[in-house]
Order: sequence, then structure tokens, then C-alpha cells
Amino acid sequence: MAEKSFQYVILGGGVAAGYAAREFAKHGVKSGELAIISKEAVAPYERPTLSKGYLFPESPPRLPGFHVCVGSGGERLLPEWYKEKGIELILSTEIVKADLAAKTLISSSGKTFKYQILVIATGSTVVRLTDFRVPGADAKNIFYLREIDDANKLVEVIKSKKNAKVVVVGGGYIGIELSAALRINNFDVSMLVPESWCMFRLFTSDIAGFYESYYEKKGVKIIKGSVAAGFTAGSNGEVKEVKLKDGRVVEADIVVVGVGARPLTGLFKGQVAEEKGGIKTDGFFKTSVPDVYAIGDVATFPLKMYNELRRVEHVDHARKSAEQAVKAIKASEEGKAIEEYDYLPYFYSREFDLSWQFYGDNVGETVLFGDNNPASPNPKFGTYWIKDGKIFGAFLEGGSPEENKAIAKVARVQPSIESRDLLAEEGIAFASKI
Ligand code: FDA
Ligand code: NAD
Repeated sequence: MAEKSFQYVILGGGVAAGYAAREFAKHGVKSGELAIISKEAVAPYERPTLSKGYLFPESPPRLPGFHVCVGSGGERLLPEWYKEKGIELILSTEIVKADLAAKTLISSSGKTFKYQILVIATGSTVVRLTDFRVPGADAKNIFYLREIDDANKLVEVIKSKKNAKVVVVGGGYIGIELSAALRINNFDVSMLVPESWCMFRLFTSDIAGFYESYYEKKGVKIIKGSVAAGFTAGSNGEVKEVKLKDGRVVEADIVVVGVGARPLTGLFKGQVAEEKGGIKTDGFFKTSVPDVYAIGDVATFPLKMYNELRRVEHVDHARKSAEQAVKAIKASEEGKAIEEYDYLPYFYSREFDLSWQFYGDNVGETVLFGDNNPASPNPKFGTYWIKDGKIFGAFLEGGSPEENKAIAKVARVQPSIESRDLLAEEGIAFASKI
């Protein structure tokens, strides 16, 4: 049986893997010392592109244009880069068994990979409606989006089904980004939001109200307060209708589902400590097993600012946790110490010509500021979250780079506020003077 041995193995070939490889290279890796094993067929790329420009009708970005690390303004790591650095990219290879005690990984084709240090970067997989046995959820033309193969299937159907009716199931990140991308492709789009408003876990009703009106103006229909309870298909097996739990029926030629993600920890069940659905790590991304690190979506790490363990499913943390873990690996080899991870949560999205950023924690009471009238020529607004008299979180739509930096700083510094009315009046100016 084929067997390969490496000093370092990164398992997974997504965002965190790419940024980890770059960090290893910065510290210097010897040829043949590091391998990335990925079930995807391509080198690590910036996953966020898939739900945005990749689906647009005009000049969509394609690989190799968005390989990491262009998303953070860094050098683009083309497949040749890995070759030059002597980093082995083992692609189209799914690991189906991991034995952490024996430091061994086994692929679906029976290949064995040995490592001294393992970095788990398996990310998340989509939650499927078939997981909940939703009747008819296996009909044709029901799509999910996680990897480039999924995006390519969407691109194909976008090309082949002009003017079709699309139902987007879910009102989270995938819901809002895919509804916009498909509307830009001129489809008749309905977004199914089970809660009272979209992006329910992050947005306030005031924030969501702006985006929902904007979407409706763009022609996206928003159906709230019910879930997809079943699908009917035509005689060709293609989806025809979405049946809602409350009895409503919506016609659909294409369905795109975004009902959440699940971290891929299954390979390590019973071998490593878990917490909050992820692999538990310390502030250096070390797991409970010596020489095993976990980064990106799979890691449940100490969020120092809020003194709690948390898992974060966003790209900024994938990049930064990767860099922190590799720095920690290298420091421990050199007998040095580095600072613990001290992360400020940062989420963002772009839809149509809108763009928002959020920093910090969305806890406590909220103060809305600015102009959130979607009919305004240049709407610009934000929200502060206030707990114990201090700002914990800040959201801004349409901010300039300086203003976005200012809201990041305000969420990090957590200044006390004297009056909510004054804060509402000052708006972004309050953050800008911190
Ligand atoms: P990631 O999912 O990137 O990579 C995991 C890798 O591991 C994949 O290559 C997978 O194939 C591989 N793998 C898993 N199991 C394996 C096995 N057993 N064997 C071999 N390989 C295996 N965030 C944000 O902040 N802003 C944004 O705009 C977006 N946009 C966005 C769009 C879309 C479509 C998605 C799906 C996600 C986003 N995100 C985002 C979230 C962000 O992309 C996500 O948090 C990071 O990609 C996480 O990076 P990881 O490297 O942890 O996982
Ligand atoms: P999500 O958790 O953001 O949203 C899931 C949505 O699906 C919620 O509105 C939820 O209520 C709804 N839902 C749950 N069960 C449902 C059901 N049975 N029927 C209808 N709706 C249901 O997850 P997502 O939007 O699927 O995103 C997947 C992953 O990709 C997440 O990790 C997310 O962070 C990531 N992502 C991030 C971005 C970004 O940061 N800009 C963009 C795209 C994807």
C-alpha cells in the first residue's frame, strides 16, 4: 500500500489551508516537509467569491484569478507557487480515516499519509434538507453551495435556464448573497426566510428592514415566517414547486438552499476534545491531542475579548487562525513564545451595490444611526450594540475604508457612552474620533 510521510500535514485545502501554507513558507519550509491534502481538485482559493462575482453574468472571476491570498490583498498562490516552495499539493484526495494516536491519515483510495504535526482545516459542509428527510428534497435542480464544483453546477443552470423561477431557501448569508446574484442574472427570485426578518442572528429588524426593502425594489420577493416542508417534481424529476409548512406553495424551476453549515469534525470523533460543535483549541489552536492543531471553521477557540469559547464560520478568522497556528508551531520548535490569539469578530457581505461590515459582538441594546431609507440616493447607516454602558458591536452599510476601520476600533476599544440619543445623533462621527 502506498505510504507518504511529512513533517507537517494540513488536512483540507480551503481558505485556512492556503493562508497556513503561506505562513509556513514565510518561516521557511524545506522541500517535501509540508503537504496539503484536499478533496477539492484545485489549489486553495478565496471561497467568498463563489457566492458573489463567480455567479455574475458579466466578467465573472475564474481560477486562477482568486486563489488565496488575494482576498486579503496578498500574493496569489498559484499551483506553481506550491511547487517552487516544495509544498506538496495532494488534491482530489478525500481522507476517510484519521488515527491521531498513530499519526496516520487514510484516503478513500487507500493511500496512507503519516505526519509529525497535523493541522486540521476541514472547514464546514452544507446542511442538506435531505438530512431532515424533507419530502422531495432530492429532486433535480435543487442546489447547495460550498465548493467550486457546486458553483460550477450553478453556473451551468444559470446558463441553461433563462428567465426561470428561483426559490432561495434560507435567509442567512447564502440566502441574501445568492438571491442578489441570481436576480442580477435576471431570474424571478423568491427568498424564503423562516424567521421574522433576514439575517436574523445578526441583523436588527431596522437593519433587515433596509435590505428587505432594497431587495424588493430590485424585484426579489421575500417570503417570511415559514420553512420549506416539501418539494414536488415534474415527470422529468426536476423540481416544480416548494411547499411551505404554512400551506403556501411557490413555483420553482431552480431551488438554491442555504440553511446553514456543519463543521467537518467527524473523522476525529472520540479522539479529540470537542466543544460547541467544533474541535476545542487553546489560543494557539492546539487541540487536546499533542501535535494536532485545528483552524478555521472547525476550531472552537477562546475568544479572549469576551472570555468565552466560540466557533466562527467566517473568512477573516480562517485566515488569521491559520497564521496564528503556524506561528505557534514554529515558535514552539524554536522554544519561543507568542501572544495568545486575541480575535475581534469581523463579518461582511456585499449584495447588489451594497456593502456592509460588522465588528464585535451583537449583544445588548442597539442604537441606529444615519439614513436607512432604501429610497435615498445614497443610503448610509449603521448600528451600535451597547452592553453595560459600553459599545460591544458596530455595523455599517456603505462605509469608506476609514469609516470601516473606525467601527472596528470602536468594537475593539469598547468605549463607554454617555447618552444613546447623542450617540444616534453623532453616528459614525463617534467611532471616527475614537
Ligand atoms: P473551507 O471550507 O474553506 O476549506 C475546507 C477544505 O477542507 C475544503 O477544501 C474541503 O474540501 C476540505 N476537506 C474537508 N474534509 C476533507 C477530507 N476528509 N479530506 C480532504 N479534504 C477535506 N465568510 C466571510 O467572512 N465573508 C464572505 O463573504 C463569505 N462568503 C462565503 C461564500 C460561500 C459560498 C461559502 C461556502 C462561505 C463563505 N464564507 C464567507 C465563509 C468562509 O468561506 C469560511 O468561513 C472559510 O472558507 C473557512 O475556511 P476553512 O479553511 O476552515 O474551510
Ligand atoms: P446561515 O447560518 O447564515 O443561515 C441559515 C439560514 O437558513 C437562516 O436564515 C435559517 O433560519 C435558515 N433555515 C434553517 N433551517 C431552514 C429550513 N428548514 N428551511 C428554510 N430555512 C431554514 O447559513 P448559510 O447562509 O447557509 O451559510 C452557510 C455558511 O457559509 C455559514 O458558515 C456562513 O457563515 C458561510 N457564508 C458566509 C458568508 C459571509 O460571511 N458573507 C457568505 C456566504 C456563506
